Amino acid sequence: MTAKTAPKTYHVKSFGCQMNVYDGERMGELMAAQGLTATDDANAADLVVLNTCHIREKATEKVYSDIGRLRKHGANPMIAVAGCVAQAEGEEIAHRAKVDIVVGPQAYHNLPDLVAKATRGELGLDTDMPVLSKFGALPARRKVGPSAFLTVQEGCDKFCTYCVVPYTRGAEISRPWQALVDEAKSLVDAGAKEITLLGQNVNAWSDGDRDLGALIRELDRIPGLARIRYTTSHPNDMTQGLIDAHRDVEKLMPFLHLPVQSGSDRVLKAMNRSHSRDSYLRILDRVRAVRPDIALSGDFIVGFPGETEEEFADTLSLIDAVGYSLAFSFKYSPRPGTPAATMDGQIAPAVMDDRLQRLQAALNRDQAAFNATTVGRTCDVLIERPGKLPGQMLGKSPWLQSVHLMTAAQIGDIVEVEIVRADPNSLSGIETIRAAA
Ligand code: 5AD
Ligand code: SF4
Repeated sequence: MTAKTAPKTYHVKSFGCQMNVYDGERMGELMAAQGLTATDDANAADLVVLNTCHIREKATEKVYSDIGRLRKHGANPMIAVAGCVAQAEGEEIAHRAKVDIVVGPQAYHNLPDLVAKATRGELGLDTDMPVLSKFGALPARRKVGPSAFLTVQEGCDKFCTYCVVPYTRGAEISRPWQALVDEAKSLVDAGAKEITLLGQNVNAWSDGDRDLGALIRELDRIPGLARIRYTTSHPNDMTQGLIDAHRDVEKLMPFLHLPVQSGSDRVLKAMNRSHSRDSYLRILDRVRAVRPDIALSGDFIVGFPGETEEEFADTLSLIDAVGYSLAFSFKYSPRPGTPAATMDGQIAPAVMDDRLQRLQAALNRDQAAFNATTVGRTCDVLIERPGKLPGQMLGKSPWLQSVHLMTAAQIGDIVEVEIVRADPNSLSGIETIRAAA
């Protein structure tokens, strides 16, 4: 590798989950603290960080084609591959794609050193997984939007047989209580009205005998913080304390993303999900008992190895039983090194396509039905950005729906809105009175 001029501008592009978005923001803050300037145009940046996702095939392919596109543009930026592809492929990716830096999700606090190395013409490689050192090494949060992420937990010990996360993000770790309370306060000072607590298994968060419900109750006390959310949860970690927080904490929004993946007990077992269809449904009953208006969201995989038509039908019937307000559904993608990748009975692509289509038709139907139930209701909307029309703003309902409205309110304000129309992916509302933000 040849030496490069030290970069003056940077661009971070994040793929995949919200945790990656959070990591991407933090890497940006780190570069800014080093005196680099952010640019929106990847083709104009001296340093491009591709913050990658490895959860499904296409995500990895996208990274390689992105690298190709950056190079084709004639510029010769310093390229850093971060995120889960960096962790999974390590040095391999540096050789295959000739990038300058490869940095894993637990090591990105070392980015300044890696940039210095790459400037000297050496490969900047760091895929170590030290426990927790990253967060202490990152600069304080200074300016954030009205809705901010806060990583409270990382990693996964569940080892679902299809999933790379336990390998790329490592074992479950929880950040300590006080660090989180402090970061939450600094986010609110920096402009956040809503905080979404993040973790691969966010509800597995604990510190001593305190669970996520206790942390939410503590954050509830922060003046100026209006809304609390958390994602993604695992059914086995839905503690009573967390369920009770949905009853008691008004700032905790009535929304629960609780992936189930399949409605068939045989498939759930083969996936090593450690919950059954029934135990999952019982958890939802308990949550609904304390918070009847809760909106439910899930993740689904179709075409897991060996999935029969009857087993797929079990997933459809579970969807009918729950009535999700939102859902994410995927075709099974074999991930190298995971047990399911070498299981018998891999499903033909055409069968997966057909099942995904039927699944999404059911989910879209339920999403539309849920949205329709909010018409005529009055709710608070947190204004997040301008809409497409002059005078129009876009915000979020408590149930995480996008709401369009005409208003003089500014980004970060919370306004009371009567929902007047539901479209498949968003709502329209009319401002009633302005509530205190
Ligand atoms: N193939 C398809 N979908 C997957 N997911 C995780 N691993 C795979 C895979 N190998 C989905 C799950 C998970 C979401 C984040 O991604 O539904 O909940
Ligand atoms: Fe992957 Fe399962 Fe862990 Fe979720 S719980 S990150 S799907 S292994």
